[in-house]
Parts: sequence; C-alpha cells; structure tokens
Amino acid sequence: MDMTKFHILTLFPEMILQGLAPSVIGRAVEKGVISLNAVDIRDYTLDRHGKVDDYPYGGGAGMLMQAQPVYDAYRAVAGDRRVRTIYLTPQGRPFTQDMAADFAREEELVFLCGHYEGIDERVLERVVTDQVSIGDYVLTGGELAAMVMIDAIARLIPGVLGNGESAEEESFHNNLLEYPQYSRPEIWQGVRVPEVLLSGNHSKIAAWRLEQSRQRTAARRPDLYARYEEKQRLIRRLSGEKRNHIHMMESLARGRAEILYEARRERETAVLLYDRGCGICMMTALDGETGEKMADMLPADARMALVSEAFLRDILTGRQYRVSGEFRQVLYTRRETLPVKHKEIRQLSEDDLPYVCKWYCDEGRGPGVDCGYVRERIRAGAMYGAFLEGRQVGFAGIHDEGSLGMLYVEEPFRGRGIAASLEAYVVNRMLERGWVPYGHVEAGNAASERLQEKLGFYKAEKSFWWLEKVLANTI
Ligand code: ADE
Repeated sequence: MDMTKFHILTLFPEMILQGLAPSVIGRAVEKGVISLNAVDIRDYTLDRHGKVDDYPYGGGAGMLMQAQPVYDAYRAVAGDRRVRTIYLTPQGRPFTQDMAADFAREEELVFLCGHYEGIDERVLERVVTDQVSIGDYVLTGGELAAMVMIDAIARLIPGVLGNGESAEEESFHNNLLEYPQYSRPEIWQGVRVPEVLLSGNHSKIAAWRLEQSRQRTAARRPDLYARYEEKQRLIRRLSGEKRNHIHMMESLARGRAEILYEARRERETAVLLYDRGCGICMMTALDGETGEKMADMLPADARMALVSEAFLRDILTGRQYRVSGEFRQVLYTRRETLPVKHKEIRQLSEDDLPYVCKWYCDEGRGPGVDCGYVRERIRAGAMYGAFLEGRQVGFAGIHDEGSLGMLYVEEPFRGRGIAASLEAYVVNRMLERGWVPYGHVEAGNAASERLQEKLGFYKAEKSFWWLEKVLANTI
C-alpha cells in the first residue's frame, strides 16, 4: 500500500480541507503518506442553477439531497471500482477504535456527507457500504463527523504520526483508559506530582500507571473494563503453556486481539483470536470438532492464520488457505536487556526501503514480491538496520502481529556476530515497551535455532504453521 486515499463527497469541501490542513493529518498529506480529495457534490448537478436538493415525496419538513449529483460525484471518484464508502449519519453503527483500525487497512475510502434532511435513499442503497454515526446527537451535516473519522483512522496508518510507534503503543488499544500524566512544575497550586513518578524506578512507574489505568477504567468505563478483565483471564489460562501460547498472550496483552471463540476441556483451551488491524488469526484447537467450529468462524477479511496443530492446518488447507511454512516458536522470558556488540545499528527510514526489499522480497521471496509490507513496517518504526562504516549489511524487525523476525545479514558479513547484535537490539526495543519478545524460526533452520539458544530464547515443543488465504482469482 503506497498511499491511503481519502475522498470526501461534500457540499463544503473547503471546510474539510481547512479543518484538517493545519493538523498532523495535514502534515501526513504533505509527506505523501495519505491524500485528501474533497469533492464538491454541487459540481456534479445537472441543474442550471446549481441546485442539489428538492422536497421529499410524501411531504415533511426540509429538503433532501437528490440522487443524481451524489451518484455522479461518487462515480467520478470511484469509477468502476468497488470502494468502501461511508455515509455519515446518526442512524449508523456507532464509531469505535476497532472500526478505525478496520478502515485503516483500506487503500481508499469514500466519505459521503449529507446535509439538509438527508439523501435520497436510492443512491445510498447503490453506493454506500457502511453507515456510521459518531455519537447519539444530530449535527447539521456529515462534515464534522467525516473529519473525526478521518483523524482517528489516519493516525493508525504507519507514517502519519511522527513517532512511528506511538499509535501501536498506547493504552486505549489495551481496553484501558490512559493513566494521569504530569509535567513541570513539581508543585502547582499546592498540588504535588505523585512521588513515584519522580523516583526514576521504571518498573514501579509502570506498575503505578497500570493500576491508575485500571482504576480509572473500572470507574469511568465499566464496559471497557469488563473486556479487559476477560482478556486478562484468558492470558492467565494460556500461561500454563507459555512456550506454545506466547503469541496469543502477547497479542491479548498488547490489546490487539479480539477473542472470537474460546472452549475449555479440563486444563486445555481452544482459542480463536483475531487481530483485525493486520488481518491475522491465531488458533489453537482441542480436536477436529473444535477446529471445524473455529474454521467456520474465520472472518471473511482475515489474510493469514497461525495454527499450532497439524489437524488445524489440514482443516484450513481444505478451506481456501495454503501453508506458507512450518515454524518453531521461540521466546525470551528474561527481563534483562541483551548486550549489543555491533554498534552501528539504527531504526530504518523509507530511504532504506530499496535495500530491505532487495534482500527480503526479491532475493528472499522471489522477484516481484510486493514491498508494501516492508514499507508499512518501516513506517511503523519497526525495522532496524545494521551498518558497517555507513554501508547497510543487514536488518531485522517486528512483524505486524508482534513477533520478532525478518532477520537478515548479507553473506559476506556473516560470522561476525552482526545477526546476534541485530536481534539483541530488537529484543531490547521490545523489552522497553514491556513486551515479551518472541519469534518463529523456520523448521530445519539449525543456524537460526543455535542463535536463538545463544541469546537465551526458549523453544516451543510443538510446530507452528503460517497459512495464507488464497484469493479467489489466484486459485
Ligand atoms: N450527521 C449528523 N449527525 C451525525 C452523527 N451524529 N454522526 C455522523 N454523522 C452525522
């Protein structure tokens, strides 16, 4: 995905452009990460006087926007493509962070802003895919609602926020509200900053913040708190077999996974998790029966699945999925950071994309493999490179579902500890965020297994399989 395109069909294009231009979103447009195309519906009316509205059949107060100009404006933007099209209306589905994450995966979105008493139903039926409300109140038009949605969606697109990772890190994604924050001075109007924040003890600070978040969420948003507790309970259950389940535990703990299915038998658990943000399912089943049940529930927009039983792999390969590889899961459970011997390691920027693509996509996966994933990871601030006297010689990163991977060092530079340093560097970045580093080593890759062992990773007993959805037109 190169650039996410937002098209806004409106009677007030300048309101959208002026509203968003001075903000972070405006800067993202300048950087070329997103584009904003505000289309004046009035430009498409066939009426000589520029009229776009008329009286409703059957009578009633106010005027209605007519179908023709709306439809022609839509066609001018979408052509014959089927583009996800959002109609802003108080009758729509209430907008949430999960919906923002879902929309953020689209390459193109159309927002249709109504005015007056609404829009002729026939054109809505023809073009709209999603009706969305931003709250239980009535605005004079859809523009402010579209701007709210664009802001919430765009900030989840890698590269929009200055610090690549800030959107991936914050706590709302965790089903918890943000903890209270304080800045200088230490005492303001006689009120002191809480002592623990001045202590310099990072683990104590993290524990205090978590407790504050929990208390706030329980008091202010019991609905969110109930979901948080459900996830914590599942994490505790899965921790009985940490090596086999760390991917699920981390996805839940980082607030990425939704629980789509859970069944228990004695100490065992069958689980289907879905990370809507990247379209990845994680599954573990008890038997064929629970496996089939979960396979029936796979979301239509899932792209990949990670499974930890051979019979699940077989069920999915019978259902539009193909195996992309067999892996062993490895995890690093210590809290201490690892020594990084090679000093020339830094976070990569988009200027480094051709190098990573050359080795990760062209040489690794075959010529012509889409570099979009690597670009997205670089924009997310999740790729790191190793250099020798300024020349790049390798890289490693964090995948979108949260595992450590993409480790590569060019052949002539191997055997000097650069791969170990790169991996240690990424481990340290993950530890800083309070994550448990884990990854997937391809079955039979003895060199990689040795490296993981040397760094202090543990290996799961079971094999894992990554499966990809086969798109209908490539079967
Ligand atoms: N248009 C008018 N009111 C609205 C609301 N609450 N949400 C979305 N679009 C709207």
